[in-house]
Amino acid sequence: MSYVIAIDGPAGVGKGTIAKRVADDLGLITIDTGATYRCLTVAVIDNGIKINEVDKIIKLSKEINIDMQLEEKEARIFLNGKDVTTRIREDDINNFVSPVSAIKEVRAEMVNLQRKLAQGKNVIMEGRDIGTVVFPDATVKIFLDASLEERAMRRYNQNQETGIDKDLTYEEVYESIKTRDYNDRNKPIGALKQAEDAILVDTTGKTIEENIKRVEEVIKSKVNI
Ligand code: DC
Repeated sequence: MSYVIAIDGPAGVGKGTIAKRVADDLGLITIDTGATYRCLTVAVIDNGIKINEVDKIIKLSKEINIDMQLEEKEARIFLNGKDVTTRIREDDINNFVSPVSAIKEVRAEMVNLQRKLAQGKNVIMEGRDIGTVVFPDATVKIFLDASLEERAMRRYNQNQETGIDKDLTYEEVYESIKTRDYNDRNKPIGALKQAEDAILVDTTGKTIEENIKRVEEVIKSKVNI
């Protein structure tokens, strides 16, 4: 029997980094569900669709093909066969992705896709609603959190390291995360919320190594790895 380890939490909390490191340590694969919404957002922009053209966005979400190469060291994501792994992290996508991901029909499409991607595999799946909606029966549920200030600083430092959105100031990153927090928490469906049976890991003031260790402890207490 395959199992799912759900890791949910707000933007900039380090879900991606932590999930990847833990997966490497434990020999699992990770599925970044935010990437599916980002990929659709690339398609929305490329097709010149405006954010208020909800019907067009829904239609597009049913037509496009999103694929992930999960077994690679760095998971890659493809939109209609084209590698958009770097493109999905750019700033125009950050600004558009929240309203796109708030559309009910879009969520239904993406949740279906996310479940298919996980089928038959032992995975760490990270997002906002994995423990509540996508896999409410996940074997392990972890909710990562950290203060807004710390998340903005981590994202800012990450941008400086990767070169993606390097020109954004700390204040701009802070405002962008604050807006996304509000949108993520107030979505009518699929809102960011800690599942009742999720274990809270507050990463504020902790090093990445401490957070990885804690997450691995939680996982090992629930599954025999
Ligand atoms: O994790 P991320 O920043 O790459 O996510 C991008 C956006 O997608 C985020 O603003 C919220 C949305 N999202 C979601 O609604 N549900 C998920 N499971 C994952 C992401």
